[in-house]
Amino acid sequence: MNGRGQERSIIGECWNVAIEQTLVIVKPDGVQRALVGEIIGRLERRGLKIVALGLKTIDAELAGRHYGEHKGKPFYDGLVEYIGSGPSVIMVLEGPDAIEAVRSTVGKTNPVAAGPGTIRGDFGMMVGRNLIHASDSVESGKREVALFFGDNATVSYDRAIDRWIVE
Ligand code: RTP
Ligand code: MG
Repeated sequence: MNGRGQERSIIGECWNVAIEQTLVIVKPDGVQRALVGEIIGRLERRGLKIVALGLKTIDAELAGRHYGEHKGKPFYDGLVEYIGSGPSVIMVLEGPDAIEAVRSTVGKTNPVAAGPGTIRGDFGMMVGRNLIHASDSVESGKREVALFFGDNATVSYDRAIDRWIVE
């Protein structure tokens, strides 16, 4: 079991690690500011593997399903407008403890509170323009991957470098 009580799967011969999938969105401000390559590059260089990728403008209906937990909050209408204000790059990333790895690379929700070296801390100034979404739990990840890509839409493949990332 890992720290969040989930069952671990076995990779290689030495250690058990939880291989997780997480939904990541480079939000419209990230696309407009030409930060797509920078953001994906940071996540790739950390070791995460891209298993699905696309470009899409998120309409209000899809935004409502994705951000349903925030309905009724004061920032909700602005959030739906923001996330639908232009195309987003939407992807599924996979790797050991991917949920936590990506959230820590992304930084705190408010970029001003996000640490330097994080994506939001290095490139953002305001909570309503925080550049990137990342699933906050394994369960959210599963729901969000299915919402944006459907079931079984991720691509399974091996990379030669994986043995240098996963022990
Ligand atoms: P995300 O879901 O986009 O990855 O962000 P998060 O988990 O760090 O933060 P969450 O609480 O889920 O909020 C979702 C998004 O709503 C906007 N927000 N605005 N004005 C505000 O107080 C406020 N709070 C949240 C942000 O764009 C946040 O990413
Ligand atoms: Mg969230």
